[in-house]
Amino acid sequence: MSFLKDDGKKLGEEPAADIATGARLIPRITIQAFCEHSQTAQLVEAAIHDRRMSKVALTTHNGGLEGAIETYKSNPTPNLIMVETTLPPAEIPEALSKLAEVCDATTRLIVLGHVNDVMLYRELIRFGVSEYLVLPTTAQAIVGAITELFAAEGAAPIGRTVGFVSAKGGSGGSTVAHNVAWAISQSLRQDVLILDMDLAFGTAGLNFNQDPPHGIADALLAGTKMDGVMMDRLMSKAANHVNLLTAPVTLDRTYDFDERDFEQIIELGQKTLPVVILDIPHAWTSWVRQTLATVDEIVIVAEPDLANLRNAKNLSDTIKSLRPAESAPMLVINQIGMPRRPEISPTEFATSIECALLGQIPFDAAIFGTAANNGQMIAEVAANNRINDIYRMIGMHVTGRNAPEAAGRATSLKLPSFLKKRMRA
Ligand SMILES: Nc1ncnc2c1ncn2[C@@H]1O[C@H](COP(=O)(O)OP(=O)(O)O)[C@@H](O)[C@H]1O
Ligand SMILES: [Mg+2]
Repeated sequence: MSFLKDDGKKLGEEPAADIATGARLIPRITIQAFCEHSQTAQLVEAAIHDRRMSKVALTTHNGGLEGAIETYKSNPTPNLIMVETTLPPAEIPEALSKLAEVCDATTRLIVLGHVNDVMLYRELIRFGVSEYLVLPTTAQAIVGAITELFAAEGAAPIGRTVGFVSAKGGSGGSTVAHNVAWAISQSLRQDVLILDMDLAFGTAGLNFNQDPPHGIADALLAGTKMDGVMMDRLMSKAANHVNLLTAPVTLDRTYDFDERDFEQIIELGQKTLPVVILDIPHAWTSWVRQTLATVDEIVIVAEPDLANLRNAKNLSDTIKSLRPAESAPMLVINQIGMPRRPEISPTEFATSIECALLGQIPFDAAIFGTAANNGQMIAEVAANNRINDIYRMIGMHVTGRNAPEAAGRATSLKLPSFLKKRMRA
């Protein structure tokens, strides 16, 4: 086993300085900058060379505020938008509210302006803009502002946690979790972390064709020593934007965890990546219950039969009472239309367990069998299959976004934070 020894030997290999400053590294966020002047674009590009920005995916675009508004009418928004504007101060708020209409709820905004005016600064901050920087400025100042937003002591975790749990072993919780993670990573182009919490039998490594460095077991064993640097070493990269903490899948020890043993890893994941997908095994232990009580969103995956119905009902009732103030669990019915199998209709299933029906996935032995045997996602073996649209739709929903292809995001119930604040003001 490659468990880290408690003597911290592997940890000691990291230069102490990196560990000490690790907390100030900006997490794996995506940033898009819309500039009006080429000097501003150069300035922003210079910022990417700062060590604190080493994990950030940053792109620069032309067109300033107008360009941003046009772009996000048809594209998903990143974690942070930076816009340069040469508009007169009086016109800036109006233009920003147009931008807000096409932005997702979690996106933050830094405005780069040419007017040094404290009244404008205050108004923009009140409006919900995270920072207003007056040009000309330095790459240092830009990195400083981003660090303050995403890596400061006490900064809100950037990651959203989504747990997938099967109503019955084999219903497809892991398959749905992995494919939804893939869909999120590809359509939002944001980094996703998949935690395979099924240490004895997990399939994340197999499904992504990764020879696992037992990520999650080492992470658990490290306990409170776990930090961003170590997380980086333990994660395997399955594809662009897809990161895994795989299960060891060896049976030479048992895996009996305490209620809060996973807490540290989940929190660290949330601090360093925008989306954390938890592949929760079908079991009822104190830590499974604790995980279900604390994640942001829960998806129950069930096949349309009686045993799944009974278990899904128990899960749904219990989860709702565990977290009355949090979002209710949602339901995905998987493997619909298995030949010759009598099935309960998905809508009846959802009604009787009082869960929102988030998706219905057909049974397809050939496609799923090929994907499983190749260690590939459904999108890789059958790119045009409509099952991918279902995964994408589930992904958009659990990350709090509307599908970009859906008509107009202005109808969103979730307003971007920079508009919400204004409404409250
Ligand atoms: N819609 C589907 N059609 C056909 N086979 C599926 C489907 N979804 C999942 N499977 C297969 O079912 C098996 C169990 O899936 P898995 O995700 O490991 O279940 P769980 O995590 O609930 O135990 C896997 O072999 C997987 O390829
Ligand atoms: Mg599973």
